[in-house]
Formats: sequence, structure tokens, C-alpha cells
Amino acid sequence: EPRFLADYRPADFTINTVNLSIELADTSTKVINELELVKQGDHQQALVLNGEHLTLISLVLNDQPLHAELYQLNDTLLTIPASSLPEGDSFTLIITTEINPLENTALEGLFKSGDAFCTQCEAEGFRRISYYLDRPDVMATFTTKVTADKTLYPFLLSNGNKIDSGDLPGNQHFVTWYDPFPKPCYLFALVAGNFDLLEDKFTTMSGREVALEIFVDKGNLAKAEHAMVSLQKSMAWDEQTFGLEYDLDIYMIVAVDFFNMGAMENKGLNVFNSKFVLADSQCATDSDYFNIEAVIAHEYFHNWTGNRVTCRDWFQLSLKEGLTVFRDQQFSGDMHSSAVTRIQNVRVLRSLQFAEDAGPMAHPIRPEKVLEMNNFYTLTVYEKGAEVIRMLHTLIGVENFRKGMDFYFARFDGMAVTCDDFINAMSDASGKDLTQFKLWYSQYGTPVIKVAQAFDAATGIYTLTLSQQSPVTKKQENPQALHIPIKIELINKDFDTNASVNTSNLNQTKLLELTQDTQTWSFSGFSQQPTLAMLADFSAPVKLDFSQDETALLTVMKNAENSFCRWDAGQKLLMSYIQHLTFDADYVISPALIDAINSMLMGGEDRAFIAEQISLPSFDEAAGLMIDIEPLALFDAISTLSLFIAQGAQQQLLATYQACQQVGEEDCVANRALKNVCLSYLSRLPEYQYLVAEQYQQAANNNDITQENMTDTLAALTCSAKVNLPDLSEQLQHFENKWHDTTLVMDKWFAIGASIVSDDIFTQLNDLLKHPQFTLKNPNRARSIISAFAMNNPKYFHCKTGKGYQFLAQQIAKMNEINPQVASRLVTPLIQYKSFATAHQQLMKAELITLHALPNLSNDLKEKLDAALID
Ligand code: ARG
Ligand code: ZN
Repeated sequence: EPRFLADYRPADFTINTVNLSIELADTSTKVINELELVKQGDHQQALVLNGEHLTLISLVLNDQPLHAELYQLNDTLLTIPASSLPEGDSFTLIITTEINPLENTALEGLFKSGDAFCTQCEAEGFRRISYYLDRPDVMATFTTKVTADKTLYPFLLSNGNKIDSGDLPGNQHFVTWYDPFPKPCYLFALVAGNFDLLEDKFTTMSGREVALEIFVDKGNLAKAEHAMVSLQKSMAWDEQTFGLEYDLDIYMIVAVDFFNMGAMENKGLNVFNSKFVLADSQCATDSDYFNIEAVIAHEYFHNWTGNRVTCRDWFQLSLKEGLTVFRDQQFSGDMHSSAVTRIQNVRVLRSLQFAEDAGPMAHPIRPEKVLEMNNFYTLTVYEKGAEVIRMLHTLIGVENFRKGMDFYFARFDGMAVTCDDFINAMSDASGKDLTQFKLWYSQYGTPVIKVAQAFDAATGIYTLTLSQQSPVTKKQENPQALHIPIKIELINKDFDTNASVNTSNLNQTKLLELTQDTQTWSFSGFSQQPTLAMLADFSAPVKLDFSQDETALLTVMKNAENSFCRWDAGQKLLMSYIQHLTFDADYVISPALIDAINSMLMGGEDRAFIAEQISLPSFDEAAGLMIDIEPLALFDAISTLSLFIAQGAQQQLLATYQACQQVGEEDCVANRALKNVCLSYLSRLPEYQYLVAEQYQQAANNNDITQENMTDTLAALTCSAKVNLPDLSEQLQHFENKWHDTTLVMDKWFAIGASIVSDDIFTQLNDLLKHPQFTLKNPNRARSIISAFAMNNPKYFHCKTGKGYQFLAQQIAKMNEINPQVASRLVTPLIQYKSFATAHQQLMKAELITLHALPNLSNDLKEKLDAALID
């Protein structure tokens, strides 16, 4: 029963208007759904509506009850044959159903989050609310009347503008909403609850006033300020950057604790995971602040890229997601350091998306075959999708890109379209032929670019030859050459000829367009061979087959104008040591590394950038560059390198740590970032471990509460957990006593507990699972133990007894019964077993086989396990 992109056809019927009346009750909510349907073209097809977990009460067709023998019903479809439909092309259908929100632990459709009702309809959740043509190319205007108990649910919200409200008998009340913009049902939302409300406004560039409302749990009002400011910044940025203005009179955001994903862009009524709304300086980290701003922006930007122009079908998901991630990344870069933002985006891509693209669930950014759509909200569709948009931006330039966006909205506003439509708008705007570029949408896997250089001293000509290869597999037997923008810098200096970063224009920056399997470029006018800095700004989501010696890497680190290249050269140098140490634990690391670290610490870069420079590649980043990984050897290699740097550079690390502590509010985020990387090195040396305890006291247990800080607290706890310092249990106890009433902070506490590097970890994990505040029903809480362990504790996740894999599989099995979507995401580290050495592969595979035999295996898990086990 998988679906294929190639099978797309337009719907036989469309829906013009929807009139919903929803009477909320915990276990029996009544939904009356009045549809105006129109037959599309001349045909005798049945009307087939999607519906799941619904109890049908009645059907009324053009005011006449439709009797049971005139339609068919099964677990997923309501079919009304042509013979039961009225004569004309348009007709009305009133569907009355009952649903049970309280029992809905999948958190799709209408469910309860704590005391509030809320919805999640993307991708195919509306069919759990009522029978419908649940596909994004069916767009209707919605009127929604919500009725509920007035005391328990003073706020009744839905999309669009409020048009009516009033009291009803029995302490009930109602509110009616009308959304004038036709939309697919995946953008429908309903929320009912008792909240604190933060109100503000925004005046758009044409002078319209928009009411901004953020709804949070009672008592959390102060924690919504940052989200509000982020929303206002997003609205201003989209006007300035793309000329895009908000279109309704009201924009609402509701924060809920039970949510599968980050957030959802429902028209005029975003529903957010509370972790991407709530923040104050005591309880949120700097990266929480950053992420909240980014997710608020992402959902806001969807109002144009997603809602005003939406997807024709779910295979086109990257049309809205890749583009909107690109937009939120550009926004974050403009709000903060664009260099550091880019580095962090690339780290995610290389560590997690590359692994996905090499694993059994690998798919093009526009997938061609889907069993469970929720499985395709992936790093590939989102992050690689954003890289594809970025390549386009690089190839045609910022002005043509803006022109292309203008074309796109002029042509497609109010429509449901395809990725091709978007690329065609960009091609028409820029005059550039993007036919070959479109292959990025249909081919999968990370291309490898092989680099060869030659220099002719007699003529001064430097020659660069690049070859590309996408993975050849059974699913992709004959991959074609892609159109790849390769930005390079040719450096005319040796690393030791100039003390500071070179900002003179001796370097040449070029944009090469690699379109063939192999291509050669020549550059003249060099008196000596220039040093090549490849992939400036990480201009394409590719891997390089290019070994540069230490001298060349040091030259790039010091003299490249492109900050990404400077950072990347340092990472390559570090990575080469990790690789050597993985194969040979006694490998002797060159003392030149210490000089390099010291000069980074003393270099003229900003501190957030230095923090990125001296941070080692993570376990996953390193793993992404290796095959047949011995995970424990890799873990030890990273630890050895870290200890070597700590010992060699201790004086400079300490000096930097102290210097960062001395600054005030100015650049405090950058200072904390650098300070805490230094602390993580220093905490490996017994003589500096007192610093960790001191920092914890300062940041978490300070007489002056305004001095307390969650970034520094968690950094100290992370050091204590990674090194398993003796103070750890006392710190964790203190932290728990202090924060036991604050859900989001307790998630951090559970996550630290799951990442302790201790032989006792399995006992500790079981204690955490038995903690009175632990529940698998809350996705954030579940992930705070399960994902934190699988992702942040590689030494024990990969322990050679297989206990780590077994722990993960056991939790997935429980989660399969509760929340299939979350269960399916948790299985990622196991299905990527092929990148590990045989002994680990076998242990992981055994767990996959056990899971595959589960009695109520969901489609979500089945799709991934099938792929992993036949692969
Ligand atoms: N469109 C939402 C966003 O990008 C994510 C929705 C994910 N839904 C899902 N069922 N996986 O912010
Ligand atoms: Zn999105």
C-alpha cells in the first residue's frame, strides 16, 4: 500500500467551503462537518473520503439522510458511490462523527495536552477529526464553531478571524472563526484551554495593524517575551528581505507540552512545542534562545512559503520545507553571526543528514515512494532541501533569487504547486537554464567530489580538475552528473608569512559550475602554486575526496578570507588525528596541533567563531567520514585527542576561560560559548576539575539569583557527566530539588542523567525510567532519556555487550503502542547499522529483527524496518 509520486492525479471532487462545529468533551467530542463539494469534470467516480479512528453518527446529502446501504465504510475510507450521489455537479454533505481526544496518545488529529485541547493535522491528521479529502491540493475556506465548558476552556481558538461568540446553557460557551484564505485541511487548527495571554502588535509595511497573541500555561507569561520579540523581528525581516507582509488581522501562537514535532504553521494559529516558546535567563540556555527565534521565524515564514502557496501533494514537501528552512537560516544569519550560523547548519547536515542519505531510508529531497508520510519529515527534505535552495541562490545571485520569489508568488498565490513550478519561476527570473539542476530533486545520496590539482611553474598556470560521483545502488543504478556550484578560494600566501588573518585581496574567489562527470579549470598568473580552499561557505552539500597536507590546511586556516574555509580546514586537521587514533591508539599527535590550537585561541576571530574552531568534530560528524566504524575506538580516539589538547594547551585554555568570565553583558553569548568549550577541555585534567564545581555553584546556586545562568549550569553538568566527576550526583540532586516543577528544565535533567559516562549507566537509566515524573506519553520527556542516551552517550550506546542497542529497542517497542511517530524517529540510530563494524552490525540487526516481529507494528516503524532489513 505505498504511494508513488508517479501516480498523482487531481482529485475527482473538490471542497469549496467547510462549516465545522466541534463540541469538545474529553472522551466524546462531536464533530459536525458541513461540506460544499463540486465534482471536477465529467465522470462517474465515487466520492472517497479519508477517515481514521472516527465513529460515524450520520451522513446527510443535500438535506437528505444517507442510509447505510448507500455507502461503504472501512477503517480508513468512507466511499459514496456515484449511484448514491445527486445529479448536479455540486452538492452538500453533512458528516457527524464522534472522536476520543483523551485516548489519542499518537498526538495526531485532536488530542489533549495536559488540560488543553489542541490539534496537529499535518501531514494526514485531519482524517482523525472528520471524513475529508485529506490531501493538500483540495483547498477550502473554513468556518469553525468551537463549543466547550466555559470554566475549563475560557479560550476557544481556530484559524482566521473571530466572527461570533456567546454563552450557552450548562456553563458552555462558543466562539466562531472564519478564515478567508482557502487552505488544505492540514493547516486547520483548534485549541481550547485556560492560558495566560501575552498580547502585542505589529504594524505592517502597508500600515495595517496585526494583533499578536501568545498563549502559554498559567504562570508562564514572562517566559513568552522572547518569542514575541522573535515574531516581530521575523515579520519585519520578511518585509525587508522579500517584500512579504502578513495577511490576517491576528496571529496567534499556542505553546503546549505534548507535541511530536517542533511546531506547526496552521494558518493564523501556530501550535508550538513549549520548548520552542518558553524562555527566561534562569531556565533557558543560549541555544534555547537561538532555537526559539529560529522556529518562530520558520513557522511565520511558512505563511507565504507553505500556506499562501502550498504543495500539490506530499511528495513535494521540500517545496515548502526546504525553502522555509533556507529562509529561517538566512534570518538567523542576519540576526546573529552569519559565519557561526552557517557552521552550525553545516555541522547538522554533515553529522545527521549525510548519515540518513547513506542509510536504508535514503531518499531524494522529493521522495518517490511513501508508506507513512510522517516518516518523510526528514533531515533530507528539510536540511538538504534548504541546501538545494541555497545552491540556487548561489548560482543565480541574490537579486535574481528575489525576482524569482516575486515571480513565484505572482504565478501561484492561492495554489497548490510542485517543486518544478518553483524552479521554473527561478529559471524564468534569472534566464538560467536549470534543467540539470532539477536532478537534485530526483537523485539521492551525498555526491563525492574528487579534487586534483596541477601547477606549471614555467607558465604560472594552476589547473584544477573536479570529478563528481553520486552513489550507485540498486535504487539508483545510473546517477547523472548534477549541477553543482563550487566556490573556491586560491590563496597566494604561506601560512607563516603573515601573523594575522589575511584580508588583502591577494586571494582569488571563484564560483565554478561543475556540470560534467569531470571538468578542468585553469587559472593563470601565479608565481607559485596557490593553496586551494575548497567549498567556500559550503556551497554544495557534498563530500570531498581531497587530501590536503598539514601545511596546506594551516595555510587555509590562517589565510583564507572565507570564514567557513578557515573553520573547515581546522576541522579537517582535527579529523585527520581522530582517524589516525581510531586505527592506532598509540599514534603520536604532532605538537604542531597545540600551536594551532593556541593560535586559534589567541587569534583575532570573534569568540563564538573560536569556540567553533576549537570544538572537535562530534562523534557523529567523525563517523560520517568513516566506514566500518569501530565505535568504541572512535570514542576513545576523540577522548584521547581531547585530553592531548587539554594537556598541551592548558595554559591558554585557562587564560581564555578566565578572560571570558571577566566580560559583562557585551557579547555574553559568544563569551559563554568559548568559555564552556575551554571548560570541557580543562575538565579532563584533575587539577582543573575544581573549575567545574565552581562554575556550577556560580551559575546554579548563587546568592545573587540574577547571576544564575542555565547555559553555564548545563555546561558544568555536562562536564561532570562526561568525566563522571565525584560532584555529579550532588549537583544532579540540587538541580532536581530546584527545578522539579519546571517541565522543560526537568527534560534537561533527564538528558544529563542519560548521558553520564559511567559503567553504572544501565542501572541509572532504569532508575530514570522509574522516576515519578517520567512518562513515555510526553514526547519531549521520552526523548530526554531515550534520544539523549542513544545520541549523546556513544560509549555505552555502542557497548560491546549490545545492552545499549537493547535498551533503545525496548523503549521503541513500548513507544510503538503509544506514539508511532515518535517511535519511528527513535529507530534512526539502529537502522543506520551498516556504517559500523560487523560485530556491532549483528547486534543492532538482532534488535531490528525483534522489533519487526512486534504484534502491533505501526506503518511508521514497519516502513523503516523493512527498508533496513532488506537493504
Ligand atoms: N510543517 C511543520 C514545520 O515544518 C512540521 C510538521 C511536521 N508534521 C509531521 N507530521 N511530521 O514546522
Ligand atoms: Zn516547516
